[in-house]
Amino acid sequence: MATLNLQNITKSFGASQVLKGIDLAIKDKEFVVFVGPSGCGKSTLLRIVAGLEEATSGAIVIEGTDVSALAPVDRGISMVFQSYALYPHLTVFENIAFPLRVQKLPETEVKSKVAKAAEILQLTEKLQLKPGQLSGGQRQRVAIGRSIVRNPKIFLFDEPLSNLDAALRGDMRVELSQLHRDLAATMIYVTHDQVEAMTMAHRIVVLNAGKVEQFGTPMELYHHPATRFVATFIGQPNMNLVPAKVLGYDTRGLAVELDGGAQLTLPVDGAAAKKGDRIEVGMRPENIHLGQGLSMKVRVLERLGGTSITYGHMDNGQRFCAALPGDADVAEGQTVDLSINPADCHVFDASGAVLRRLMAPALAA
Ligand SMILES: Nc1ncnc2c1ncn2[C@@H]1O[C@H](COP(=O)(O)OP(=O)(O)OP(=O)(O)O)[C@@H](O)[C@H]1O
Ligand SMILES: [Mg+2]
Repeated sequence: MATLNLQNITKSFGASQVLKGIDLAIKDKEFVVFVGPSGCGKSTLLRIVAGLEEATSGAIVIEGTDVSALAPVDRGISMVFQSYALYPHLTVFENIAFPLRVQKLPETEVKSKVAKAAEILQLTEKLQLKPGQLSGGQRQRVAIGRSIVRNPKIFLFDEPLSNLDAALRGDMRVELSQLHRDLAATMIYVTHDQVEAMTMAHRIVVLNAGKVEQFGTPMELYHHPATRFVATFIGQPNMNLVPAKVLGYDTRGLAVELDGGAQLTLPVDGAAAKKGDRIEVGMRPENIHLGQGLSMKVRVLERLGGTSITYGHMDNGQRFCAALPGDADVAEGQTVDLSINPADCHVFDASGAVLRRLMAPALAA
């Protein structure tokens, strides 16, 4: 059992507070991804968990034991970095064996542990080569091998794939997910790539300016973003945000008028909203269809095969993006009529908080 609890972690560098009270409960064998924009505190938080950086306040609890005062080697944690820092003069075997040599383990044990890690990482054929003779993805696997042989309770990864090209990153994503299943260990993975986060995580922590915006499964974050920030961070292409004003609220939901004129009744809890309040209506490009109600002038059309991504403007100049079927009958320069199911809209108040959706039974027939 390797549960990890972070309790009210704060971190200041001089006068600037970069972590502002982080509380997280990570389950045994869970694959958790920390995602967020550059500078939001992802690496700092990971380094605090590893013991490479000291928190200003708060506690780190692993399997029920407060490890905050323990040295990194005594925490049962292993960390893999973006720059994999292999020893160029040592073979792959000796690079993987390095932590075991430090522990002065007997040769037979070293051999069996390295052989097992190499097998999991498909490096068995490469053990006698030097890092210079490997591809980027193979080198990153050697760095992971060095982690595996230490048999840590928790693996930490800080952007381990960001030095690799796009195709190799895709392959390594699949390999890391497989590795997680094979090792059945708790893993925390930092990235600013939301595709990596969506595809690999059991649960995602969205960090913004030193705070947790939301912690949930990829599909919870996609369907029920708690804030405007999460809504626009998760999902590709990004969610459209259309400014609107409140017309009224009744049992059917919140009636709004989009800037540009279209009126919609959205099935969200608008009890706190007042007539005339400014709000934003979030519309995911993939939820937009050819239809009636919205209109957009297409500036750029990207035919991807299965989908056609259209970028352009609504009547009032608002930028807009729609993901239409691959063979949709649209062209650059054309004005197209579009629609969205009101139930697919997300609504954010002026503070960026989301208005809770009304469940079907709460809506009048
Ligand atoms: N040793 C340090 N001294 C002073 N400020 C620091 C130090 N380390 C980090 N910071 C600051 O803390 C903030 C968070 O940094 P951190 O490296 O955790 O961000 P990040 O989310 O990992 O970003 P990136 O995606 O760019 O790696 C940044 O504003 C950074 O400048
Ligand atoms: Mg970082």
